[in-house]
Amino acid sequence: MNKNFYITTPIYYPSGKPHMGHAYSSIVADIFARFKRIEGFNVLFLTGTDEHGQKIQKEAEKNKKEPKIFCDEISETFRSLTKILNLTNNDFIRTTEPRHFKSVNEIWKRLVNSGDIYLDKYSGWYSVSDEAYYDEDEIEEKDGIKTSKISGSAVEWVEEESYFFKLSAWQKKLLNYFEKNKEFILPQSRRNEVIRFVEKGLKDLSISRTSFSWGIPVPENKKHVIYVWLDALTNYLSALNFPDTNDKKYKSFWPADVHIIGKDILRFHAVYWPAFLLAAKLPLPKRVFGHGWILSDEKKMSKSLGNILDPIEIIQNYGIDQLRYYLIKEVSLGNDGSISMENLKNCINNDLANNYGNLCQRVFSFIKKNCNNKVPKTNNFKETDTKLINNIKDNIPKLIDLINKQNLNEYIKTVVNFSFEANKYFNDSEPWLLKQKNPERMNTILNTIVEQIKNISILLNPIIPIATRKVLNTINISDKDISIETIRKENIIDNNKELKNLDILFKKIENDN
Ligand code: MSP
Repeated sequence: MNKNFYITTPIYYPSGKPHMGHAYSSIVADIFARFKRIEGFNVLFLTGTDEHGQKIQKEAEKNKKEPKIFCDEISETFRSLTKILNLTNNDFIRTTEPRHFKSVNEIWKRLVNSGDIYLDKYSGWYSVSDEAYYDEDEIEEKDGIKTSKISGSAVEWVEEESYFFKLSAWQKKLLNYFEKNKEFILPQSRRNEVIRFVEKGLKDLSISRTSFSWGIPVPENKKHVIYVWLDALTNYLSALNFPDTNDKKYKSFWPADVHIIGKDILRFHAVYWPAFLLAAKLPLPKRVFGHGWILSDEKKMSKSLGNILDPIEIIQNYGIDQLRYYLIKEVSLGNDGSISMENLKNCINNDLANNYGNLCQRVFSFIKKNCNNKVPKTNNFKETDTKLINNIKDNIPKLIDLINKQNLNEYIKTVVNFSFEANKYFNDSEPWLLKQKNPERMNTILNTIVEQIKNISILLNPIIPIATRKVLNTINISDKDISIETIRKENIIDNNKELKNLDILFKKIENDN
């Protein structure tokens, strides 16, 4: 079995400071990366910044800076965000790096060699903010301004010499590919969207610009810079040392297992990218997963509405595990989801503080008080105990499957349920009444509940890595044993070692906070 796993986030435009939408894509990808690692995979998790194009050039001009210097500064804020979000990316790619130039040049050459590129003139609508071309029927007028119906961004009329990619020639092959690979695009609703778009007919795509210079020059005609999306998409290969297809990284990790993206950039990843790859005679990624939008109090975040949620501020006030948990628990991954400070607080209090956090604290302090701070040994499991323990073990294949389908919501729901059940078991078994009456039974209950805490913590580890690590370290599970395999094993908890101290895991948030 191939034990390598390659997952990517979109590479972000360093045009302004990172916001919650960026944080969301990255956190989602990180959770999958972390899960696959604890499942035993050798994971490559890539993120980075998308630095060329007209949008960035304009933004740099506005700030009176050279584009490269401007990018250096803002890219750094995205790089530091990876630390703040506690991401486990192995690499951070910038499209201004030499390794990326090499890779884009090779892709261009391959498209020329396959006969898929020709020179002509582009005239049509272009949105600088989306770096996208739009057809006439995708444009509407709003307050006297021509805008894209799809994104709502302003468009401008562009007429210039341009190289074209023969996208039209790939329509049938793409549809065939979608038909044969039913899970290439997920969720299904997005897949249907893409299929409808391709069925409508594909026009050849302009893949170079001449009206500005901030980009990778077309190798045979330096007047042109390569269209920023052809440039940007190639980052997924550049990080694997493409064009060296004999390189170990390329061999181990291409094709990518999943590109995590927002629904706004589905067309680029699910239509243009596979067509470029087919033309370049390279294998296609196994999956493109398009998540929905994060809305703030039911509305799209925008500067003018003043409802932009700053991830860094929220993390400073509430903690990164808390934000990660909330985004995954409360937002349905495939759909748009509204978030609010009110819900965030409730979620921290109910799920994290009262449920998982409280369970751990109660059990550990009980053991400290009544069992010399050591998890008691036992061999006298009753059916209620083994049923509880086996319920998690038996569900591992299902949980792995949910992750492999990016069904994060069902995954977390299942795990949270285990935590509710464990709490209920502890309450119903009333070990505090058994110390004198039946210490043997008390020991079994404690042993069982610690086993559950261990397993739930491992399953929650990809989502709330800091808190779960603390809990697992408290019961003397070392970092290298934080794995799915550890759930399957018997007797992993050392009954001779004392529990370590555990500080409050999740502070409850007061409502006027
Ligand atoms: N640079 C391109 C991507 C190139 S990938 C080869 C780009 N960058 S971006 O900075 O504008 O946004 C990247 C991603 O941020 C979006 O695709 C989406 O994943 C995420 N989000 C931005 N705003 C968002 C929300 N409000 N909600 C959820 N995610 C959104 O597009």
